[in-house]
Amino acid sequence: MDADTKTTIAIGSDHAGPALKAVLAEALRAAGHTVLDLGTDGTGRVDYPDYAHAVCRAVEQGQARFGVLICGTGIGMSIAANRHAGIRCALAGEVTSARLGRQHNDANVLAMGARVIGDAVALDILATFLTTAYEGGRHDGRLAKLAAT
Ligand code: RB5
Repeated sequence: MDADTKTTIAIGSDHAGPALKAVLAEALRAAGHTVLDLGTDGTGRVDYPDYAHAVCRAVEQGQARFGVLICGTGIGMSIAANRHAGIRCALAGEVTSARLGRQHNDANVLAMGARVIGDAVALDILATFLTTAYEGGRHDGRLAKLAAT
């Protein structure tokens, strides 16, 4: 994982994702990032929106540059995250979505499914997400329109 732009990453999961969260957090720290781990850490059942909202608030309030969310599929986390006005959450199960989510959508939160991808794929997705820049240009107007419903 490229640590050229070391930053703070907020990370959270529900009970489907603590093991993957630990793997990703370790990789982030090894790359020089600061990790704001907002739980959950056990396998007892919790509700994914609670963790999605905590991570998204950290990003919206500037405590973290990016957020990473893990649940069974990533779907619930991404739905919850995208209810935040300041969040653009990309659900990714492969690196192309992670790359284009940054290049075209300026995604600031990444959601992944611990029950649908393995650790190695998740690590590649995260590294791609963090090292890919937003392209701007023709995408700026589209992002501006996201606020209009
Ligand atoms: C929890 O069983 C599961 O529903 C959750 O992790 C997630 O996949 C929801 O989208």
